[in-house]
Amino acid sequence: MTEPPVLTIDGPSGSGKGTVAARVAEKLGWHVLDSGALYRLTALAARRAGVDFADHAAVAEIARKLPVRFEGGKVFLDGEDVSLAIRTETAGNDASKVAAIPEVRAALLDWQRGYARQPGLVADGRDMGTKVFPDAPVKIFLDASAEERARRRYKQLKEKGIDVNLAGLIAEIEERDRRDRNRSVAPLVPADDALIIDSTAMNVDEVVDLVLRAVRKALPDVGKGQ
Ligand code: C5P
Repeated sequence: MTEPPVLTIDGPSGSGKGTVAARVAEKLGWHVLDSGALYRLTALAARRAGVDFADHAAVAEIARKLPVRFEGGKVFLDGEDVSLAIRTETAGNDASKVAAIPEVRAALLDWQRGYARQPGLVADGRDMGTKVFPDAPVKIFLDASAEERARRRYKQLKEKGIDVNLAGLIAEIEERDRRDRNRSVAPLVPADDALIIDSTAMNVDEVVDLVLRAVRKALPDVGKGQ
């Protein structure tokens, strides 16, 4: 059986990866891996268990045994719906702290690779193209200015009924960027063979279009015979 094709979409927080990944996957009929959710869940589970993020071995143990279930677009941790709880800015910041722990990244590696299934996978994260799926035939690095990303996040959170302040959000996004780009393991960098898209002045449809074009160029047979 041939390997399932993988499209990786990496980039900083708020660059629109999640939305673009979901839309592209829907168009192609492919599966989606939201790898950030795994780091968010690990951090939440560690907090709830009272585990200090400085205790790397204990946090990694939690990552290895996450009692998680994805169902109907929702995420359950130990049977509890945590779909909203993992989307707060605190949860995102906590995620970026546990994501800097090498043992946690190692614990989640095979699990993430297991998401590659036919007819294909869209994998969204920070190191999908560099570490998790280095042989992926199509790699995208989606970027946008910090201000624009904060504005998008602000709108997204407001729509979900989560109250935030824009200036605080810009500061948090910049801090998270710094942590993600400067960590020693799997730092946020584009893969050498990634197509870099700056979406600052683009809407979602335009980005989705560019990504689909890149997929069809690399994989001319995709979608044929469906
Ligand atoms: O993408 P999202 O904002 O949900 O990711 C939350 C955090 O998880 C990121 O700031 C990053 O530190 C971490 N992460 C990662 N590698 C991934 C996905 C997310 O380090 N593949």
